[in-house]
Amino acid sequence: MARGSLIVFEGLDGCGKSTQLDLLYEWLCERGVDCVKTREPTDGEWGRRIREMARSGERVTPEEELAWFVEDRREHVREVIEPALARGAFVLSDRYWLSSVAYQGARGLDAAAIQRASEAEFPDPDLAIIFEVSPEEGIARVNARGGVGEPVFEEVEFQRRVKKVFGQMDRPWIVRVDARGGVSEIHQAVLACVRERGMVGD
Ligand code: TYD
Repeated sequence: MARGSLIVFEGLDGCGKSTQLDLLYEWLCERGVDCVKTREPTDGEWGRRIREMARSGERVTPEEELAWFVEDRREHVREVIEPALARGAFVLSDRYWLSSVAYQGARGLDAAAIQRASEAEFPDPDLAIIFEVSPEEGIARVNARGGVGEPVFEEVEFQRRVKKVFGQMDRPWIVRVDARGGVSEIHQAVLACVRERGMVGD
C-alpha cells in the first residue's frame, strides 16, 4: 500500500484556512478518496488544555506553551496522522508544526531551532499551504466571527511577527496562496496546488 499524503493548512488567525480545508475535504470525498480531516490543537487532552488556556487569557511562558503544543502533536502524529498515512489516506490538517515555528517564534523563542526539532521528530508535510492575509484583515475576520475571543493570540503586533516568521519559512513543499479573494477563487487555487503536484487527478 502506497503511503498517503499529508496536506497542512497554515496561516494567521482569520486567514480562512479552515473553510478551505473543508472544501478540499469535500472535493476529495466526492471523488471517493480516503481522506481524514484533523486539526491542531487537537481535541485530545493536551489540545483541550491549550484551548482552555487561550480562552482564559492565562499567560504561560513561551517555553511551556511550546511544550504543550509538542505534546499534543506527538499524540496527534502517533494516533491520527501516521496510521492514516500508513493506510494510504490523505490527511488534511488545520495547522501543524509550522504554527509552532511561527507562533512560538513570535513569542520570542528561536524559530529556526523549533523548525529543526520539528523536522527531526515529525514527518514533513507533502504540501503546506500558507494562506496569506494581512494581520489587520485576519483580526477583522476573527472579530466578525464573534464568539469567544482568544486574547493571548490575537493582538495585531503579535500577528505581524507571526506573519514575518511564516514569510521566512522556505521548503520545497511550501506554497503560498493569496487569501484575500473570494472563497471559491481560493478553492481553485488550492486545487491547482494539489494537481500541480500530481497528488490528485482532475
Ligand atoms: P486556530 O487554528 O486558530 O484554532 P481555532 O480556529 O479553533 O481557534 O488555532 C488556535 C491558536 O493556536 C492559533 O492562534 C494558533 C495557535 N497555535 C500555536 O501558537 N502554536 C501551534 O503549534 C499551533 C498548532 C497553534
